Amino acid sequence: MSLAGKNIVIAVCGSIAAYKIAHLTRLLVKEQAKVQIIMTKEAAEFITPLTLSTLSNNPVLIDYFDPKTGEWNNHVHIGLQADLILIAPATANTIGKIANGICDSLLTAVYLSAKCPVFFAPAMDLDMWKHPSTQNNIHLLQSYGDILIHPKNGELASGLIGEGRLAEPEEILEFITNHFSEQLPLAGKNALVTAGPTHEAIDPVRFIGNHSSGKMGYALAKELERLGAHVTLISGPTVLETPDDVHRINITSAQQMLEQVENYFIKSDIIIMSAAVADYTPIEVATQKIKKKEDSFSIALKKTIDILATVGSEKTEKQLLIGFALETNNEIDNAKSKLIKKNLDFIILNSMQDKGAGFATDTNKVTIIDRHENIQEFSLKSKTEVAKDICQLIIQHPILNSK
Ligand code: CTP
Repeated sequence: MSLAGKNIVIAVCGSIAAYKIAHLTRLLVKEQAKVQIIMTKEAAEFITPLTLSTLSNNPVLIDYFDPKTGEWNNHVHIGLQADLILIAPATANTIGKIANGICDSLLTAVYLSAKCPVFFAPAMDLDMWKHPSTQNNIHLLQSYGDILIHPKNGELASGLIGEGRLAEPEEILEFITNHFSEQLPLAGKNALVTAGPTHEAIDPVRFIGNHSSGKMGYALAKELERLGAHVTLISGPTVLETPDDVHRINITSAQQMLEQVENYFIKSDIIIMSAAVADYTPIEVATQKIKKKEDSFSIALKKTIDILATVGSEKTEKQLLIGFALETNNEIDNAKSKLIKKNLDFIILNSMQDKGAGFATDTNKVTIIDRHENIQEFSLKSKTEVAKDICQLIIQHPILNSK
């Protein structure tokens, strides 16, 4: 998931581990988070505010007011605006203060003013970490709902070896990312999407295919992932790039798509079949290139297995199954009968009669029909927008919201 637009305050305390915050800041900025660094005066002895303000693209705040301009750094405002506060490295001293309501710096005042989740990542020597006073303070912070990012075992600045090293920046980033993804509407859900065409081999160099670009399915995979789902994308041949954090499985033929869908479908809460699967495949695939001889030539074809119908016959009441229908005539009636025949929760109808809808375009115009025959018509939109409309219906669906 992306941290785009998230306001993250990093509160840096005076510890040698403060150098790691430079790297962490870079990682967060790369994830498009807005980073505001606040420091204690002691922290500024370990890493310069200039380093951190350059990396965060934001002035670093240390005092209640800027001695040069006399400008007031409003701690209440900083605390209220933050989506998350991370105290790292959190020293025994600062942990002790904030656990007990002591407010003698901008950093401690921001902590007390905050309404957002607070994470704290301690760094200190092993005996300081083990001391009952520190442990009591840690428990106090946890009792307020603050989340501990446990220190690691290893070599410490004192030369001793033990628990007390600040967690690595990558690990802290993972904590932060997980926190935001857990709040997403599809957190913890598995989604399975099929996309693109299938290619049915005729001989080693030829196939039967179709014009599907895969764009609709890829847009859906991306949107489902953005909403917090774990997404598996089973894709026919396309030139599209895999959306970030989506697990993509490449297949070529309808049979291969069926096999992969069978592998993943049981574990999936949401299944969307947007692939343009070949309905027929050659009975025999020539092992050598077929030579040009007669004036006319025909290939015997057999039906492929309907993957969507297969899943529909096997699905449980807890799984949401969505299919597509591409129709040229009698659209609504044909789509409705596919919905019933294939046991779907929704069917998304593309009409070939609509300009800008269907294969290989960047736009689509869909009508969505549900099991109760509610029909919603949408206007012509980009496939990204269509994916958002579809996902909004998914989020609200009772199947995903029943306990
Ligand atoms: N589908 C499938 N397996 C197939 C054929 C189609 O899973 N072998 C799925 C598609 O992914 C789509 C839906 O079935 O979600 C409808 O596809 P469509 O081509 O519109 O309909 P068909 O059922 O193939 O019927 P027809 O071609 O006769 O309209």
